[in-house]
Amino acid sequence: MAKAGDPRRRLLVLVPCPYQGHLNPMLQLGAALQSTGSFSITVAHTEFNFPNQSNHPQFHFLPIADGLSDADTSLRGFVSLVLKLNVNCKTSFQESLTRLRERTDWQEDIACIIYDGLMYFAEEVARELKIPCIIFRTCSAATSSLYNEYPQLQEEGFIPLQDSKALEFVPRLHPLRFKDLSIYKFEGFENLLPLLERSSQVGSSVAFLLNTIECLEQSSLMKLRQAYPVPFFTVGPVHKIAPPLSSSLIEEDESCIAWLNKQAKNSTLYVSLGSVASIDEKELVEMAWGLANCQQPFLWVVRPGLVHGSEGINLLPDGFAEIVGERGRVIKWAPQQKVLAHESVGAFWSHCGWNSTLESISEGVPMICTPCFGDQRGNARYLSHVWRVGLLLEDMERGEIERAIKKLMASEEGETVRQRMTDLKREVIHAIKEGGSTYDFLDELVKYINAL
Ligand code: UDX
Repeated sequence: MAKAGDPRRRLLVLVPCPYQGHLNPMLQLGAALQSTGSFSITVAHTEFNFPNQSNHPQFHFLPIADGLSDADTSLRGFVSLVLKLNVNCKTSFQESLTRLRERTDWQEDIACIIYDGLMYFAEEVARELKIPCIIFRTCSAATSSLYNEYPQLQEEGFIPLQDSKALEFVPRLHPLRFKDLSIYKFEGFENLLPLLERSSQVGSSVAFLLNTIECLEQSSLMKLRQAYPVPFFTVGPVHKIAPPLSSSLIEEDESCIAWLNKQAKNSTLYVSLGSVASIDEKELVEMAWGLANCQQPFLWVVRPGLVHGSEGINLLPDGFAEIVGERGRVIKWAPQQKVLAHESVGAFWSHCGWNSTLESISEGVPMICTPCFGDQRGNARYLSHVWRVGLLLEDMERGEIERAIKKLMASEEGETVRQRMTDLKREVIHAIKEGGSTYDFLDELVKYINAL
């Protein structure tokens, strides 16, 4: 393997999707590959939600003109915005790459483009420029394999989904019920289906990367390997194989670590609904009173926009801060991985985004699962009913919230859930160590790219 500083290091161009839950795993993957000493990394990024370059002096950055207007970024939902990016970015990415190749000498020619499946314009450009490319799906294997089932479910008349069938099992997808599918109650799902279909195609990709772990998702991985005729590399959880890095788009409030230091071991509930989910004001108030009444210390992320169009923190109910006092802390954005690794954190109340799911499992922190939309529904189902390391909480009502917290953090049943999560963490740690599946796949991936 080439060493850092070795002129034979080959160039990898990464194309992340510009949302927090997608940027993080892509940059972590880049850092993991770079740390092997074989590659230098260039991150091609849109103007929208671009990463803070000063946090990543080890990477080069290649801007792509995305043609988005302020109205696009403030009004458009995730799906319309991603569809628009795929149309707008193709030519500008091709031009940027061509300029890059003209600038660099032959030794640094691009070994490969690794792109988020949602940014499929990168695959089209790679094909046209005859550069090898690799698709990286940042969701779970179960979610990825689900996308392949949608056309058939549509043909069989199950889609559009009917409320009356919400609790029935989906054919061929046990243990998922219709309400666990990513398209369930998804606003603008007519656009979502074509996006998922296109982003699931590997096209000219020579390999498939997934941020998951063999031991966690064996049967879904088997299905995917049957469906796609390319080598698969399961390199998750990528944040555990990469040197520590912060790719937060919002400033992290590090002061919460000093506050966590004062809490007893396993006593504190960490609460965050990720970077995109939003709730209404009534749900925020119910969350607040549920937390106030539960008697456990808590660290709660109320990010700007959590309640649509507001700062969020301003909407906390009168009297909440006084009642909670030093027992609770509300912040705008957390250094989440450090928080979950802190010994005082005993549970995570989460929306079950795939990154949050992997980060919690990696630290052995049991979860309260409140999925909001998309793949979070299926992740919550696996957490609560397959791995059984989380409790489902679907009703944002203060009494239900208080009961769920007490059940997980102060009951025998909760202790069993914690024990299972500790066991699962052990398997993950095994996977990333020498001889483990993730460790081996990263090694094979490096050799595979070097042979391209
Ligand atoms: C989105 C989707 O909602 C999610 O379901 C999908 O799997 C990925 O894209 P998001 O909602 O942001 O992601 O959730 P998640 O996947 O959990 O990613 C959030 C990331 O932000 C995590 O890596 C988490 O560590 C980080 N984060 C979150 C912080 O660093 N600080 C915070 O306060 C909250």
